[in-house]
Amino acid sequence: MRGQRKLDHLRLAQSLGDGPAKTGFDDIHFVHNCLPEINSAEIRTETVFCGKKFPLPLLINAITGGIEEGKRVNRALARAARQMGIPMAVGSQAAALESSNVCSTYQVVREENPGGFFMANLSAGASPEEALQAVEMIRADAIQLHLNIPQEVTMPAEEGDSFFRGYLENIRCIAETAPVPVIVKETGFGIAREEALRLLDTGIAALDIEGKGGTNFIRVEEERKGSPREEVFFQWGLPTAVSLVEVAEVAAGRVDIVAGGGLRSGLDIARVLSLGADMAGIAAPLVRCFYQGGEEAVIKYLQALEKQLRKVMLMLGAGDVYQLREKPLVILGETGRWMEQRGIRLQTFAMRGFEKRPEG
Ligand SMILES: Cc1cc2nc3c(=O)[nH]c(=O)nc-3n(C[C@H](O)[C@H](O)[C@H](O)COP(=O)(O)O)c2cc1C
Repeated sequence: MRGQRKLDHLRLAQSLGDGPAKTGFDDIHFVHNCLPEINSAEIRTETVFCGKKFPLPLLINAITGGIEEGKRVNRALARAARQMGIPMAVGSQAAALESSNVCSTYQVVREENPGGFFMANLSAGASPEEALQAVEMIRADAIQLHLNIPQEVTMPAEEGDSFFRGYLENIRCIAETAPVPVIVKETGFGIAREEALRLLDTGIAALDIEGKGGTNFIRVEEERKGSPREEVFFQWGLPTAVSLVEVAEVAAGRVDIVAGGGLRSGLDIARVLSLGADMAGIAAPLVRCFYQGGEEAVIKYLQALEKQLRKVMLMLGAGDVYQLREKPLVILGETGRWMEQRGIRLQTFAMRGFEKRPEG
C-alpha cells in the first residue's frame, strides 16, 4: 500500500500542478532600484545553513524513497545536488524502518554524493530510536521531522494516522538525543508564529515552513481516492508568504529558516530571502524535470533559478543574499491585510533603508 502511494505521489506531482491555493508571492513587491551601483561579478549567493556554507540558498526538499522508482529519482537528484553543491533531503524513511530491503533506495544518495549534505526525513511522531536509525541509514548531516496532519486526515482511514498528541514533546526528545541538527518541516500547509514559538523551545536547529500554494497534499490525496472528490479543504493552510512573515517575526536569528511551497522562480527565491529565509526549498518542479529530461533537466532548472536570483540581486544592488533583507518590500493584497490583522507592521518592510533627510 505504501509503495503504491509513493508511486501515486510521483505521478500526481507531475500531473496536478500547483494550487488551487496561492502562495501570496504576487503580493510581495521589491522596489526597483535604478542606481544599484554594483557589477554582475560582485554578486555572491553563498549562504550558511545548519552551520555550513553553501554556494546557493537553495535545497532539494524531501520527495521520495522506499520504491525502485524512488531510487532512480533520488539518484538523479543527488547527482544534481552534487553538481550544484546544495543540500538535499530524502523522502520519508518510514518504509525503510519497516523493511530493510528498501534502505538502498535512500542510501543511493550517499553513493552518488559521498561528501554531500543530506537530510534524513521522518514523521515528527517517530521515536528517537527511529530518528537515529534514519540518520545512520544515509549518514545524514541533519534530520527533517515532517508535520503533515492535513494529509494524514485526508487519506483513507486505513492508510492515514489519527494520533497526533505528544508531537511537541517527541520533537524535544529527538532534538535532545539526535547526533545531528533537527529541522521541523511542514509539507505544504505552513507554520504559524504560535507554533513556531512553541517549537523554538524544543532545541531544534531550523524551521522549514513549507506553506500552501505549491504542492497540495489534500488535493493529492483526494485525487488518489477518486470520485467523489471532496474539495472543501483545497484552500486550507497558510500561504507560503504569510507563514514566512509569521515565522520570521519570532524565529529569525534564533534558528535557521527554510521557506518552500510553490517557489517557482529566482524572483520567488529572492522574495523569501528578503522576508527572512536562510534557504529556499523546492520539490515538485524537480520531479517534473526528472521525468522530462532526467538529471540534466534538473540541473538546468536549478541553474535557471540561480541565474534569475542573480539578476534580481543585481537589479536591487544586493551584493550578497543577506543584503536582500535590507531592501524595501511593499506588501499588498491579502498578504498585507493578513499582516495588519496579525499586528505585523508593514512599514517595517516598506521603509527599510529609507532615512528622511532633516529639512533645512
Ligand atoms: C512527490 C512528493 C513527495 C513528497 N514526500 C515528502 C516526504 O516524504 N516527506 C516530506 O517531509 N515532504 C514530502 N514532500 C513535500 C515537499 O518536501 C515540499 O514540502 C512540498 O512539496 C512543497 O514544495 P513544492 O511546492 O516545491 O513541491 C513531498 C513532495 C512531493 C512533490
